[in-house]
Amino acid sequence: MTYKVYDLINTGDERGGLIPFEKGRNVPFEVCRAFYIYDTKPSTPRGAHANRKSEFLMVVISGSCKVKIDNGREQSVVELNRPNQALWLDKMNWKEMYDFSYNAVLLVLSNEKYDEKEYIRNYDDYLAAVKPFHQN
Ligand code: TYD
Repeated sequence: MTYKVYDLINTGDERGGLIPFEKGRNVPFEVCRAFYIYDTKPSTPRGAHANRKSEFLMVVISGSCKVKIDNGREQSVVELNRPNQALWLDKMNWKEMYDFSYNAVLLVLSNEKYDEKEYIRNYDDYLAAVKPFHQN
């Protein structure tokens, strides 16, 4: 599976936490886009798509949520529940974010600008697109 969970170094001090993001240091791509998801509902999942070009770095900066990652062959679930924990997701992973806690804020960085054309939002289309990667 092409994802990685890792800790972000907190450079904060007694005044509070501070987590910087820096290309090549703790972000494995040049950040081109950032967005955050908030005001979520525990029973309403988000995502359910794959991206042909976008990689993502996800950090729950407040609260918690789960991310289901599916590469067309295997599935994993990662729980994000600390602001110093990052999930890097390579392109062409099917993902779904769910079980958002009250007041959860999910920050997402990406290497690509938003382009609806590179989103695959139908799971069968995703399986067809990823099939060549799983041959041999
Ligand atoms: P969507 O991809 O459905 O969100 P999620 O993956 O969290 O379920 O996006 C919701 C709306 O926001 C949709 O109209 C597209 C828009 N959007 C942007 O304009 N830019 C972005 O970077 C993202 C992620 C979404």
